[in-house]
Amino acid sequence: MKRIGILTSGGDAPGMNAAIRALVLTASQHQLEVVGFSHGFNGIFNREYRVLSNMDVLHIIQLGGTILKSARCAQLQQADGPQIAADVLHELEIDALVVIGGDGSFRGCMALSQFYRGQLVGLPGTIDNDVDGTDYTIGFATALDTALDAIDKIRDTADAFERTFLVEVMGRHTGYLALAAGIASAAEQIICPEYGAIDIQDLANDIRRFQQNYGKGSYIIVMAETMYKDGATALAQALSEQSGTECRAVVLGHLQRGGSPVGADRILATKLSAYAIEQLLAGRAHLMMAGEQAGHLGLYPLATTGEKHKKADTYLLAWQQNTLQQ
Ligand code: F6P
Repeated sequence: MKRIGILTSGGDAPGMNAAIRALVLTASQHQLEVVGFSHGFNGIFNREYRVLSNMDVLHIIQLGGTILKSARCAQLQQADGPQIAADVLHELEIDALVVIGGDGSFRGCMALSQFYRGQLVGLPGTIDNDVDGTDYTIGFATALDTALDAIDKIRDTADAFERTFLVEVMGRHTGYLALAAGIASAAEQIICPEYGAIDIQDLANDIRRFQQNYGKGSYIIVMAETMYKDGATALAQALSEQSGTECRAVVLGHLQRGGSPVGADRILATKLSAYAIEQLLAGRAHLMMAGEQAGHLGLYPLATTGEKHKKADTYLLAWQQNTLQQ
């Protein structure tokens, strides 16, 4: 193996730059050349790439976003896309491709593997944490702290005005971020897929009961996106009407994707990236994702990273429900 390609794909996540840095440094230690493709898989189709040296990754560990840019790639999903991408990789003599992204990006890897003769390895990079085969994804810890910072500020104004707030956090189809942000911000309610569908009447009753028990006070609901089809503002309005108390909506949105990665994300990214290169060199990483489970580094089949077997913390789910609903 002489030359590896790397790219960041899908929703960017804080810590992707830390991963790029560690991939380049580890590769160069093993005399491997690193080619960075820009804009996710699009960089392969558009031949948008550059050789990355140790100099290129100097002082990027603390930067949010990704120096390679990220994107989703429609072309890879077209019938002839994987073949075209594989041809470009062969022409550029890329012996292995490392993809930093979520399960959607890994599905792209699987499609590519039908035609590409090199090794394909994944690194879990998404704020959603919804990737099987690793306890945490690169970016989740930072997004959690960012959400907490925002919710703590909302608590100040909510307390001052004795208001109810509905805060929507990201996490497509999954509640990892909502559950963690809700627990750590002492939210009165958490709405996420793990707790099932929303019952507006139930929620409104709970707000009223809370106000009777604790005086008016502030009441914060943390909700995972996609839990209410008409969006947080519509739900807040419905709750205002049914509970008889003013409920305001705040959608945290993309600010959760930005910012300097926290230490945990920098370390996870560094560790998984170094491990991925070592496993590639040992010939064990093809069609695998590098992850960490229960403190152990390991490889997990890329094909099954999106099966959603990873469970949210059932202990905390039960604690929240039993303790705050009394
Ligand atoms: O997968 C990461 C993520 O931020 C999700 O939480 C969110 O649903 C989605 O990406 C948003 O995608 P986009 O940036 O394309 O709107």
